[in-house]
Amino acid sequence: MSAALHAEFDRSLLEKLEYATPFFLFSRKRVTGKFQEFQKYFPGSLIHYAMKANAESGLLQTLFDAGSGFEVASIHELNMLKEVGVPPEKMIYGTSVKPSSHIKEFFDYGVDRFAFDSLPELEKIAAVAPKSRVYVRVIVNDTGSVFRFSEKFGTDRENIVPLLQRAKALELHPYGISFHVGSQASNPLAWAAALESLQPALEHLKKLKIKLDIIDIGGGYPCAYASTEEELSLEEIARHTLDQYQKLPYQPQLLLEPGRGIAATTAIVVTTVISRVERKSGTWLFLDAGVYNALFETMAYQGSTRYKVTSLRPSYDAGEMLFALAGPTGDSPDIITHEALLPQDLAVGDKLILHDVGAYSLVTASRFNGFPKPDVYFV
Ligand SMILES: Cc1ncc(COP(=O)(O)O)c(C=O)c1O
Repeated sequence: MSAALHAEFDRSLLEKLEYATPFFLFSRKRVTGKFQEFQKYFPGSLIHYAMKANAESGLLQTLFDAGSGFEVASIHELNMLKEVGVPPEKMIYGTSVKPSSHIKEFFDYGVDRFAFDSLPELEKIAAVAPKSRVYVRVIVNDTGSVFRFSEKFGTDRENIVPLLQRAKALELHPYGISFHVGSQASNPLAWAAALESLQPALEHLKKLKIKLDIIDIGGGYPCAYASTEEELSLEEIARHTLDQYQKLPYQPQLLLEPGRGIAATTAIVVTTVISRVERKSGTWLFLDAGVYNALFETMAYQGSTRYKVTSLRPSYDAGEMLFALAGPTGDSPDIITHEALLPQDLAVGDKLILHDVGAYSLVTASRFNGFPKPDVYFV
């Protein structure tokens, strides 16, 4: 397993930190850098960070300062953005199924862009957020992604035109179409293929004189975890996507909702070995960070994320061996990995670093067994 330490988290810095573990350490420089990468490869597009990936106020503030917009999923997230001072025109409410009371609160704050994926949802928006801009979420092929959404969200392509016509009839503004290729995508052509599939609907809408403002190509931009077979670059994804975009009958502005693609590599978690035990299956290191308090995505669901792990203390040539890593709770799914290659001589009190843990970690932390959410620091 290669270490792939980002320069912002170098060993000499980490050795000096005396914070109690487990703790997350974020790099503001990496947050800004990631946002700027999206701006660079998708010039002229709207970038709305999907804050469900990580809603730490320091990260939200850094992105807001850099000029980012936000894709927001509830009034609770809305309140976090209000605290940072984000104005309504920087927000879209992107979950396509929402409580009416949440739609209303967004509308009262001044947000006027809402996703929907069915007639009842559209009628809900028309009732409490009149004259808003609405965009329809459509199902696309998400089979190349670790986490897929199309079972739960999105409408079939043939419903795009009637739903946007209906939006117009309800005096809403047909703003655009959105899709999500699934989180942690592995196919660099996924976004291009999704755009291609929208071509007939765009042509049909054009004939009906419904000209869309945006196409929202969602999130999905992957991170190179230890479990990632092939690394994808944003540059490659952008090249394929923009080629296809140029072939559309006209070019509505692109809107992107990167969550993982911005947050993942901006943080590490530093954790301490609380026990080293021999089991029939091998040697286990129990850590003070685990699935429940910090590393939810290591739990097997549609997939299971394997983070890169390194030891803070060098091995002094002791050699390396495979360990199983487990969290501190009494629950058996609280296992981070069965195979981390680490220095053989690791012992209780040694610190480990899990890399690229910025996405879907703190936001999903629970108090299972009473363990609190780790502290968070920024450099
Ligand atoms: C509507 C919407 N947009 C954006 C995202 C962010 O996806 P990702 O973290 O894969 O970029 C999600 C993830 O759940 C989502 O549901």
